[in-house]
Amino acid sequence: SRSIRLAVIPGDGIGPEVVAQGLKVLSAALPSDVKLETREYDLGARRWHATGETLPDAELASLKDHDAILLGAIGDPSVPSGVLERGLLLKLRFAFDHYVNLRPSRLFPGTATPLAGRPEIDFVVVREGTEGPYVGNGGSLRTGTPAEVATEVSLNTAYGVERVVRDAYERAQARPRKKLTLVHKNNVLVHAGHLWKNIFDRVGREYPEVTTDYLHVDAATIFFVTRPERFDVIVTDNLFGDILTDLAAAVTGGIGLAASGNINPAGTYPSMFEPVHGSAPDIAGTGKADPTATVLSVALLLRHLGHAPEAARIEAAVEADLAARDGSPRTTEQVGDALAARVTG
Ligand code: IPM
Ligand code: MN
Repeated sequence: SRSIRLAVIPGDGIGPEVVAQGLKVLSAALPSDVKLETREYDLGARRWHATGETLPDAELASLKDHDAILLGAIGDPSVPSGVLERGLLLKLRFAFDHYVNLRPSRLFPGTATPLAGRPEIDFVVVREGTEGPYVGNGGSLRTGTPAEVATEVSLNTAYGVERVVRDAYERAQARPRKKLTLVHKNNVLVHAGHLWKNIFDRVGREYPEVTTDYLHVDAATIFFVTRPERFDVIVTDNLFGDILTDLAAAVTGGIGLAASGNINPAGTYPSMFEPVHGSAPDIAGTGKADPTATVLSVALLLRHLGHAPEAARIEAAVEADLAARDGSPRTTEQVGDALAARVTG
C-alpha cells in the first residue's frame, strides 16, 4: 500500500515554524494515491522543563514504528548545554543507527555566496553518524581543580568505518563525476586515520570507476573556499563532518538552505531528516526563519522512501524560488506557500 507513516518532532525555537512549512510542501508534492499519516511528538525544551524527560523509552519505541522522522530543531538557552543534544538528538541518531549523515551542498543559481566568481558547487558530504568523538567515551579527573584532566576519546571501528565508506563509494559511483574524497587528519590522528585510510583504499578496489583522493581536514577547509568545485562526494568522520558541513552551508547560500538526512540504509530503523541549522531562539516567533532547509530535507526524505520524482519536483521548486527572489522580505509562511504552489504546478 502506498502510504507514509511520518513521525514529526517540531522541537524548539523556529523548529515548529519551519516544520509546518515542510509538511505543507510535502503534502503538496505527494501523489494523491499516497496517504500521509503524521504523528507529532512533544520532545525538546518544553518537555524537559515540564517533566525532566528528554526521550523516554516508550517514545523511542513508538518513534521506531514509522517510515521516517522529520525533525525541526532542538535546543534552547534555558536548557543546560548538552542535555537535549545528547539526550535527544544524538540519542536518536545512535539508537536508530543513523550511520550515514547525508549533507548535500549545492550552490543554486541566484543565491549569494561569499566566494569570488561563482564556482559550480554540487557535492555531498557523507558524515559518519554513530562513532568518532561523539560517542561520549571520556571523562574528567580532579574536575574543577587546577589539575583537571579531561579526555574525549574518538571511537572508530572497522565495522563502523567500512559501512559508511562503502555507502559513500556507492553514492560516488552513482554520480556523473564518480569522485570520492576521504577527509581525515592521518598525519596526526594516526590510529584512527590509518584505519580510515586503509579501509578507504581496500574498499576502493571494488569501485574501479570511482576516482579517489585524500585530504587532511585543515587543507579541506581551504579547498571548500578556494576550489569547492573540486568536490563530488566526501566521506569523513562525525566531528570533521559536523564542522565541514557548516562551512559548506556558509559557501552555498547559508545555513537557511542546508538540508540533511540521518540515514539507516538498511531500513532497520526509520531515517530522520532535519535542517542543518539549529533552533535560532533569537528569531523564533518572528516569522523570519527560512523554511527552505527543511523543505529540502523533505526532498531527501522522499527520495529515501522511493519517491524520487516528487523529491526532484521539490528541489526544482526551491531552485525556481531562489532564482526569483528579489530581496524583498517574506515570512516563513510566505516562502512555504510559494514553494507549495510551485510544487503543485
Ligand atoms: C548538527 C548539530 C549537532 C551535531 C549538535 C546539535 C549535537 O551541530 O546536526 O550538525 O553536532 O551533530
Ligand atoms: Mn553541526
